[in-house]
Amino acid sequence: MYIDHEEILHKISSRPFRIVSEIADELQLEVYVIGGYVRDIFLNRPSKDIDIVVVGSGITLAKAVANRLGKKSHLSVFKNFGTAQVKSGDLEIEFVGARKESYQRDSRKPIVEDGTLEDDQNRRDFTINALALSLNTERYGELVDPFDGLDDLENLIIRTPLDPDITFSDDPLRMMRAIRFATQLGFFIDPDTFDAIIRNKERIAIISKERIIDELNKIIRSPKPSIGFELLNRSGLLELIFPELSALKGVETKEGIGHKDNFAHTLMVLDRLSKHTDNLWLRWSALLHDIAKPATKRWDNRLGWTFHNHNFIGERMVPKIFSRMKLPLNDKMKYVQKMVGLHMRPIALADDEVTDSAIRRLLFDAGNDIEDLMLLCEADITSKNPEKVRRFLNNFRLVRKKLVEIEEKDRVRNFQPPISGEEIMKIFGLPPSQQVGTLKEAIKNAILDGEIPNEYEAARQFMFEKAKKMGLQAIQQDK
Ligand code: CTP
Repeated sequence: MYIDHEEILHKISSRPFRIVSEIADELQLEVYVIGGYVRDIFLNRPSKDIDIVVVGSGITLAKAVANRLGKKSHLSVFKNFGTAQVKSGDLEIEFVGARKESYQRDSRKPIVEDGTLEDDQNRRDFTINALALSLNTERYGELVDPFDGLDDLENLIIRTPLDPDITFSDDPLRMMRAIRFATQLGFFIDPDTFDAIIRNKERIAIISKERIIDELNKIIRSPKPSIGFELLNRSGLLELIFPELSALKGVETKEGIGHKDNFAHTLMVLDRLSKHTDNLWLRWSALLHDIAKPATKRWDNRLGWTFHNHNFIGERMVPKIFSRMKLPLNDKMKYVQKMVGLHMRPIALADDEVTDSAIRRLLFDAGNDIEDLMLLCEADITSKNPEKVRRFLNNFRLVRKKLVEIEEKDRVRNFQPPISGEEIMKIFGLPPSQQVGTLKEAIKNAILDGEIPNEYEAARQFMFEKAKKMGLQAIQQDK
């Protein structure tokens, strides 16, 4: 890896770095920038979180630095963790004293600060995250790399500085971090390190769901998320943290007929989709679109393998999965449910004749998320038969064209029924009842089926006709 010394100096040349340097010299403290910021300098990745380690008290140094930076900076001290943070412009600088103990942001263990730089580096997660650059004037920009982290960066290797069993038992989340870095950076996990993940996988149980989901989401946001899921699977972690996904693995064969491996298929869909969107929740939808296939799998003598209603059952599984994994139980979850529930619709449409009313119904059900749904469905075509793929993609083009035409004509995408339930109750003197629902539904269906236009007067007339058939009498005819 070639990186110019000048370039390194440039990356640590801004005022906050200079001030840290000045004050550390004055207080005669050894000080380094360390961890992700240094790694990202060599990888040429942008990074705003700066970790400073000082041989001494991190809090004392942070206070002095915030003082000198003046009003534009903001200091927060976390006494329990022995750390302090200074915000200056868009930089966040975290100060910590060199430790003999393992380095964990939210550890509840007592903080032992009396370490040397080497002690501190020993207790970090990976060699590529243990690189340190001196900030003291005499050694400004000097790299301290006791574990050949730079070589590992060059060779794309994730490796623990100590015996991996020690590093992972210090903080088992690091097993997920190893896989996350491998996925994000396109690195390879050193075999000894990977074997230790397999050995220590059960220890993930002591890690909070929130920390696990943070790492999982970083894997999902990566350019090719399947790398992470394959590694989670091979290490045995997947079954522990995400059993529903793990259950998609495998192929069953009966009378010579096998179904596809739904785990491999799901990962392929996720990768294909990830080329077109950074939307985390759309990526989650890909991950969960076939999640109910194991639960709905049946063998039918005539049809072979079937997965009836796996979309609807999957939609119902989403809240349980979100709740257990501590994902948000809000509109993001509802969006994922909607995508899982609807993911068969465009393909079913493309299979048959594309009628206007089917398009209107799809637009109505998907609303503003129609474009996302189409992306998911296009990614879902993973057939190896090029003729089949061509046919589906052609039909999708037709569906997309019709979606635009129908939306322009009928505006059903954000459809609001032209007559409200309240108005129906007033006109027919009805209490809230099933009859009101039936009338509302009939009006909606008539519009979506193209029987009447999406307009108030037409809907009103239709409503009276329908009400008559139901034996209802209007008590108020005027508007
Ligand atoms: N670290 C560690 N063990 C952990 C978490 C963090 O050893 N479980 C150390 C690593 O040296 C890491 C540094 O603390 O580089 C900062 O941690 P963090 O900000 O969480 O990660 P980064 O490496 O900066 O990467 P990212 O910002 O992508 O999470």
